[in-house]
Amino acid sequence: SPWGAWERDLAGRHVVVSAGGTREALDPVRFLGNRSSGLQGYALARTAVARGARVTLVAANVALPDPAGARVVRVESAEDMRKAVLAAADDGADAVVMAAAVADFRPADYRDAKIKKTPGEGPEPIRLVQNPDILAELGARPHPGQVIVGFAAETHDVLANGRAKLARKGCDLLVVNQVGAELTFGRPDNEAVVLAADGSAPVQVPRGPKEDLADVIWDQVAARLAPPGV
Ligand code: CTP
Ligand code: CA
Repeated sequence: SPWGAWERDLAGRHVVVSAGGTREALDPVRFLGNRSSGLQGYALARTAVARGARVTLVAANVALPDPAGARVVRVESAEDMRKAVLAAADDGADAVVMAAAVADFRPADYRDAKIKKTPGEGPEPIRLVQNPDILAELGARPHPGQVIVGFAAETHDVLANGRAKLARKGCDLLVVNQVGAELTFGRPDNEAVVLAADGSAPVQVPRGPKEDLADVIWDQVAARLAPPGV
């Protein structure tokens, strides 16, 4: 809500936000990456600071200035992000919001030396292995009083895929947005629907600044937090 900035309804709370996109190294100079800019995660961090929260921002490969008042932990890979997010979640976090685009797969073998091409020989295929699913891990652990929020990037069947993902991940809220080359990445605005595991009606957020979506997400989180001091 636009009132959030001066309501400070997150005062005394610790919130953890992940942002950006992980990079999965192939060799010392190359990686597999994705198009996440980190803008939505940074908007979440800024709005949470404005609402009075202590904020830990776990940032993967973003080219954005640190939000004032947040503690920023920079990471590169999904494995790094997992360690940083779980550590921050265990540090008395009231909410964890996974806005980062975490690579589903990483190269099976990391080469210590730069991969070279051999004249006349084709490239070797890159074998991939699956990364840990941080959000599913957060959702599967006992988290009394901790609100877990995921994002879902879908290119089609947005609602049906979102509902299935909400159930699969075991999170409390899932922010579903439609992605495409120009729809979301690197843009200052976003449009989404927020699904809840508790059966309450989906909240449709019209296209607008990423701060507006962030404030709606914090409204939904705040409504699910136990009263302070409990
Ligand atoms: N996520 C995560 N760890 C992963 C992959 C995803 O924590 N290894 C989180 C993302 O940060 C996001 C949510 O899970 O909050 C959903 O990510 P998404 O890519 O939409 O879902 P996946 O479960 O990876 O399914 P798929 O990519 O196959 O649609
Ligand atoms: Ca994925």
